[in-house]
Amino acid sequence: MKETLTIIDNRTDLRYEVPIHQGTVRTMDLRKIQAGPGDFGLMGYDPAFMNTASCQSAITFIDGDKGILRYRGYAIEHLAEKCSFLEVAYLLLFGELPTAAELNAWVDTVTHHTMIHETTKKFLEGFRYDAHPMGMFISTVAALSTVYPEARNVHDPALRHLQMCRLVGKVPTIAAYTYRHSLGYPYVYPDNELSYTANFMNMLWKMVEPKYQANAQLARALDILFILHADHEQNCSANVMRSVGSSQADPFVSVAAAAAALSGPLHGGANEEVLRMLDEIGSKDKVWSYLEQVKAGHGKLMGFGHRIYKNYDPRAQIIKWAANQVFEVTGRNPKLEIALELERIALEDDYFVKRRLYPNVDFYSGIMYQAMGFQPDLFTVLFAIPRTVGWLAQWQEMVQDPEQKIARPRQVYIGSEQRDFLPIERRGVRAASSAT
Ligand code: ACO
Repeated sequence: MKETLTIIDNRTDLRYEVPIHQGTVRTMDLRKIQAGPGDFGLMGYDPAFMNTASCQSAITFIDGDKGILRYRGYAIEHLAEKCSFLEVAYLLLFGELPTAAELNAWVDTVTHHTMIHETTKKFLEGFRYDAHPMGMFISTVAALSTVYPEARNVHDPALRHLQMCRLVGKVPTIAAYTYRHSLGYPYVYPDNELSYTANFMNMLWKMVEPKYQANAQLARALDILFILHADHEQNCSANVMRSVGSSQADPFVSVAAAAAALSGPLHGGANEEVLRMLDEIGSKDKVWSYLEQVKAGHGKLMGFGHRIYKNYDPRAQIIKWAANQVFEVTGRNPKLEIALELERIALEDDYFVKRRLYPNVDFYSGIMYQAMGFQPDLFTVLFAIPRTVGWLAQWQEMVQDPEQKIARPRQVYIGSEQRDFLPIERRGVRAASSAT
């Protein structure tokens, strides 16, 4: 089979042959297709990147039609069942599952990077008592850039590695501090004897007891959630990480930018919105009428639908299982009844079936987080902790890819042709005459 595409330009009757590589054509190959001398050449037009690959990546594989998600070739189901979060983080960042010795060394390194500088703690203290935790998280991660100015040497592999260890170590600390800040409680320093998630729980919930004892079932459930959220190939925030990083900005500000993208309600912010939606619905018997409103175009069903998955999000299945583990400890979240009913009706309804809208990762995670005692405004911060690993893996791959340059899309200009400059005294006259 010949791996090329033949294009006939009907404007000129000229034929062009462009190579096909891995199911893609390079849009730069279209540039030679010109309507005439001086023509710029053909470009691709793809708002929101619906059908454009921005990179080659060896990190995460998704088949949205079949509901498959793999990190570095390993099925998410196996990783969630058999690995710890830091083991998966190692896999994503370095390409292979660690040996026992490698894992020990990695856990030790990350653990010894969990402290944040006292000035960064003071920086956090400056936020208003009711500041949204995601705003505090984004700003504080960006502020780390001032603590580690050498991070801007993005082409130095050893320095890159160090910043990655720092970020993976410090994001739970920052996240926990935003939570304690919202409650007005003193910050709790990391405890190096605890696992990644148990230490996070320690920094969140330790009060006056000398040693925090994390509930093992809750710590494992959180670990699983972190595994599921660690990466998701070229989503909105990963794309921001790569775009910002492509200018050679340091990884702290790049992660902050990616976290800002995550905060939006159409992306990671959806988990917070799901809880608000369930509150608004209020009870199981109101689900049907709520869905009717959505179908009539009044709002979206939050936690449903995905750009890539046109089948059940495999992560949502595992979260449902993990949520039950949490409920065994905490008791059932009453919102679960509403969520289950919503899912049941939506999955049978023509509107959702036709559009292939299924629950996504955010649909059940919020219910689980709430049962664990988190307020909805912390949910996206909980998402950002593990996703930092994915952002860093994507960033590192981008930095090392010789094909990548500063990200800079083209545009199709649809504004005015050249116009004569209007002196200010004549502008009002024009506006008034065109208004009548
Ligand atoms: N509720 C109701 N209708 C929906 C929903 C939804 N949640 N999602 C999509 N649709 C409808 C759209 O209105 C559209 O209908 P139309 O063809 O009649 O116009 C059709 O389904 C296709 O939707 P698009 O918006 O074109 O799909 P897109 O791929 O651009 O959007 C997105 C994906 C943003 C996730 C969307 O499904 C959505 O807004 N979902 C709710 C927010 C959410 O849960 N986001 C989390 C995603 S997972 C993550 O980022 C971690």
